[in-house]
Amino acid sequence: ARASQIESRLAPLVLCGAALRRVGDVFQRELEAGLRERPSSLQMENTYVPELPDGTEEGVFLALDLGGTNFRVLLLELRAGRLVREDVKHYHISDALRLGPGEELFNFLADCVQDFVRAEGMEDEEMSLGFTFSFPMKQHSISSGELITWTKSFKCSGMQGVDVAALLQRCLRERNLRVTVQVLLNDTTGTLVAGAHTDPEVAIGVILGTGSNGCYMERAERVQHWEAKHERVRDVVVDIEWGAFGDNGCLDFLRSSFDKEVDENSLLPTSFTFEKYIGGKYLGDLLCAVLRGLARDGLFPAPPAWGAVDSAHVSLFEEENLVGAWSQTSEALRAACGAPVTRHDALVAQHVARIVSNRAAQLVSVCIASILRRMNRARAAVAVDGSVFKKHPRISSLMDKYIALLAPHHQFTLQGAEDGSGKGSALTAAIAARVAARSP
Ligand code: BG6
Ligand code: GLC
Repeated sequence: ARASQIESRLAPLVLCGAALRRVGDVFQRELEAGLRERPSSLQMENTYVPELPDGTEEGVFLALDLGGTNFRVLLLELRAGRLVREDVKHYHISDALRLGPGEELFNFLADCVQDFVRAEGMEDEEMSLGFTFSFPMKQHSISSGELITWTKSFKCSGMQGVDVAALLQRCLRERNLRVTVQVLLNDTTGTLVAGAHTDPEVAIGVILGTGSNGCYMERAERVQHWEAKHERVRDVVVDIEWGAFGDNGCLDFLRSSFDKEVDENSLLPTSFTFEKYIGGKYLGDLLCAVLRGLARDGLFPAPPAWGAVDSAHVSLFEEENLVGAWSQTSEALRAACGAPVTRHDALVAQHVARIVSNRAAQLVSVCIASILRRMNRARAAVAVDGSVFKKHPRISSLMDKYIALLAPHHQFTLQGAEDGSGKGSALTAAIAARVAARSP
């Protein structure tokens, strides 16, 4: 009886084929509306990146990666399209900087660039920089764009509508650095470009990390928003920003009471609804919300403290579940709940982790399958990066399964991509230089 009570509590998180097809239909509609600049929760942002690497990319570039788990400054050298040098330094961004005035954050970014070029002995050199800014932007060109809204764990004041490339450029100038922000890109774009560099079949870039998002090559004529001449541009990378899918209410049929609790306890409530079903920043919160609900109904020994469960727990529970173990699960639960946990309780938590992971895999697969169908290529490869994709033991096999079910006539492969914001950003800067050199 207890098992069936638990199942009925979890039922709102279990999606059947019909629900997934419905999500796919809504996604297609929102995608079309977004491309046409009609009301939509999908922004379908023009990135102004018109082509992928062709193996001729050359030069030395700086790159800045802001928005994922790590903040990094990189120095990259490309020769005939090959990456021959990559120096990286990680910097820590404090909570005060992530949540304080935006100017302070950008001054800090410029300080880090200065520290980095000094350490490289390149302080006086002229250099191009690719800025991977993994947040939704309204892009005006390949090198400029305004922040629309913060997502994930950033919430700096005074930044909405600010051109982040121009602000970074100003902070760099104030430090007398001869660094030019040549491209401004999203991490999905970097992932697509880096992926396409290794495999020309790559046509879609996906992040399954702290947040989740995707981009793909769209025909330029299908994109409404252009602020630059584009007569000779055939294709362009479109940043979907699917984390915001459903923010206009079109997916309310999916929303469970657990999702509401996760949203209410998040840094940025009522926004990025879809990301809160998938992103690593939220999977642990979801698991926590469900266990708290079960504890309230007397179906779990004690509620875990809010914030005490994260996506690493989800991965750990899944790993143990795969091999039929439970000791680390119960150890972690005892720490999070502050109460003894039986083997049965540990198995319940593992079951919840499976359900939450399964739904995340289903939803991200709906988006990927929809894009595959839209692009309608004989074969397409999807470059995927991010901590959830890398660390969750089952996510990629679940995605393989669901994408195949949802796009049965399309051949695809999911490829783990590395370093979209490093290699991808340098390659994008080189592409921008190549395209600029060609224009009259
Ligand atoms: C990295 C990419 O590997 O993954 C970044 O280079 C990206 O560009 C990041 O933002 C996303 O994953 P996470 O887990 O760090 O959010
Ligand atoms: C969030 C951001 C998006 C980014 C994604 C993955 O959804 O809004 O721009 O691509 O996280 O990092």
